[in-house]
Amino acid sequence: MKKIFLYTGGILLFFGIYLLYTKVEKIVPFYTQLTKPHIGTEVNLQPAEQKDAHFVGAKTCKKCHSEKFDAWSHSRHPKMIQDIKKDPKVVVADFSKLPADADFNLSEAVYTVGGKFKQRYMIPAKINGHDDFRLGNYQWNVQTGKWQHFKPWKYWYKDAYPHDNHQLPTSRACDGCHFTGYMKEEKRVDNGISCEACHGPGSNHVKEPENEVYLASLADPVRQNEVCLQCHMRNRDMRLKDHNMSAIYGDARDYPFGYSAGDTLSKYKLPAPFVGKETKEFYANGMGKKNRTQGNEYVHSMMGKHGITCINCHNPHTLAPTAEHNSGNKLCMKCHSFGSLIGPHQSSLEAHTHHKANSKGSLCVECHMPKVGRHTGKSPLTVRSHAFGFVTPKETLKYNMPKETNACYACHKDKSMQSLQNSLEKWGMVSWDKR
Ligand code: HEC
Ligand code: HEC
Ligand code: HEC
Ligand code: HEC
Ligand code: HEC
Ligand code: HEC
Ligand code: HEC
Ligand code: HEC
Repeated sequence: MKKIFLYTGGILLFFGIYLLYTKVEKIVPFYTQLTKPHIGTEVNLQPAEQKDAHFVGAKTCKKCHSEKFDAWSHSRHPKMIQDIKKDPKVVVADFSKLPADADFNLSEAVYTVGGKFKQRYMIPAKINGHDDFRLGNYQWNVQTGKWQHFKPWKYWYKDAYPHDNHQLPTSRACDGCHFTGYMKEEKRVDNGISCEACHGPGSNHVKEPENEVYLASLADPVRQNEVCLQCHMRNRDMRLKDHNMSAIYGDARDYPFGYSAGDTLSKYKLPAPFVGKETKEFYANGMGKKNRTQGNEYVHSMMGKHGITCINCHNPHTLAPTAEHNSGNKLCMKCHSFGSLIGPHQSSLEAHTHHKANSKGSLCVECHMPKVGRHTGKSPLTVRSHAFGFVTPKETLKYNMPKETNACYACHKDKSMQSLQNSLEKWGMVSWDKR
């Protein structure tokens, strides 16, 4: 009798382990995150001992967290703002070709802004009686290798500043998102996005490590995303909630001024309105036309709504995956598997994509993160969507989006939108609501 129990026990255990490895949904390890009780967006989550702390800068953190520091230092975040006087090599533009009507030259510029897709230049200026920075009237487009006009007042609060780039202070238009410390304290503590932008001010922690700093991954998914959304989401000055633009003339800010990680973002951030119609920032289905719309798109996506977060996909320190460091389908298959509850519902890659397994047409991001936005009006379409839901050729036309933003068309410019739609329908890959 005992033996039978032992044998059946053993067989059951073996079977259990087999099931665990083959049948259990890959999403299971994330269930604790998905089912975490939601904390109101109005609750400040910063540890009590952090609330009276100030910013100290990334170099101070390096002493005890050299591994995190190294990972971060190779990412783009610390490179957003770079000091030209310290290292002239940070300039990626060809200044010998700077057009004659430029209102700046290289020796006047102090900081570079960006450099991956485009580079802009910060020049010291007195604006409204304060020492501030203005932006040069030309920007370097890395993707086209050309100088092009830059009229920041055209994009940033046209009704809130004189139409003159000499009168548009970066302190109001940009610095909160590009320097660490500026958003909360109006101090340029670190150039670029450093530790305390996501962990909050660290002076008390540095004195005594038992004084905690904010760790976003301990919060529920909605609050977890806020550290990224403070910057990666288009917004409006909070005061526009109950004032009109003329009330904040010359002072409008394009970032959630006063916020620091762990605090309640909704108190400081008014997301750029998406009204179900095409605007200068979004298409009529909510997809971004420009860069820096990841958050606006993501909060409406199925994954965003179901508790998947930016850091489930992106390492917060290395930032991978990026276009250059993309692990292919491996990232998506961390949670998805064929024939699973969360999809894809077909039994294999080829059955889902209707392309050969080793074809580019079988890469998840190519169909689910199509390139829908541009970095500037003259840039190629390269900004990948974070809406994730598949957009059919029929929908692309319905929402008045350029054909090139459609995933199928982007690879099949020799086919008509109708024939691509037909293929999809023939494959049975269109839900009823998209027919
Ligand atoms: C003097 C050494 C020291 C310095 C400087 C320091 N830390 Fe820490 N940090 C620690 C130690 C030790 C721990 C682990 C504490 C624990 O687990 O209770 C820690 C933990 C952390 C954690 C994890 C918190 C958690 O709840 O698990 C974060 C995030 C962090 N530090 C960020 C920073 C940042 C940002 C800075 C710079 C502003 C910084 N640290 C500077 C020693 C330091
Ligand atoms: C873009 C936002 C961001 C920046 C910048 C950033 N961190 Fe983090 N960091 C996070 C998030 C989010 C986590 C939680 C990751 C997780 O638990 O998976 C984290 C985790 C940590 C941890 C705890 C790791 C653990 O395993 O418990 C430490 C320590 C830390 N960061 C230190 C730093 C230091 C030092 C810097 C600057 C050199 C830095 N971070 C820059 C967002 C950031
Ligand atoms: C304080 C503002 C700020 C915060 C907070 C922030 N980012 Fe960024 N992020 C930026 C800026 C600015 C860039 C562009 C950097 C550049 O190209 O030089 C960027 C770039 C990136 C990139 C592209 C990297 C590359 O190599 O092209 C990724 C991915 C990214 N951020 C993810 C995140 C995630 C995830 C979080 C939250 C954990 C986060 N960011 C928080 C401002 C921010
Ligand atoms: C609300 C935060 C925020 C504000 C305000 C903001 N940016 Fe950015 N910016 C970002 C983020 C996040 C990215 C990276 C993500 C992306 O490009 O999709 C970025 C990217 C950029 C890049 C491209 C970086 C590269 O390496 O190619 C440039 C250049 C840039 N911003 C310039 C500006 C200028 C100039 C201003 C002010 C007139 C400004 N930004 C205002 C958040 C902001
Ligand atoms: C389901 C996974 C997933 C989630 C969730 C996700 N991303 Fe991404 N993201 C990616 C992938 C994959 C890429 C790179 C695509 C490619 O190959 O170009 C990317 C690219 C980016 C880039 C541009 C990087 C570059 O190379 O220029 C930024 C910025 C970014 N993500 C920010 C965010 C932010 C902020 C969030 C949260 C609101 C977020 N992502 C959520 C998968 C994800
Ligand atoms: C951390 C886990 C996780 C990762 C990683 C992940 N997903 Fe998801 N995904 C989910 C969950 C959970 C859902 C919601 C499924 C549901 O409720 O039906 C989902 C839903 C989706 C949907 C359906 C959305 C819709 O609007 O119909 C698509 C498409 C999708 N994911 C694509 C991707 C792609 C592409 C990647 C890789 C870039 C990826 N996912 C990575 C967990 C994940
Ligand atoms: C050739 C384009 C293409 C590729 C590549 C692709 N998908 Fe899809 N995916 C679709 C279409 C089309 C739909 C159905 C949309 C609808 O029903 O409206 C879909 C639907 C989904 C869904 C929703 C559930 C379902 O089965 O309807 C998930 C989840 C998903 N895909 C994940 C992925 C993942 C993960 C990868 C990479 C392994 C991937 N997809 C690669 C085109 C693609
Ligand atoms: C990233 C590029 C890429 C994307 C996205 C893509 N395809 Fe393809 N497609 C290919 C390649 C490459 C082939 C060649 C055969 C293969 O690899 O299976 C192909 C083959 C085909 C074929 C059969 C051969 C032919 O030329 O008649 C059809 C039909 C097709 N694709 C339709 C679509 C549809 C519909 C979509 C959108 C759901 C789509 N493709 C998305 C790259 C892509």
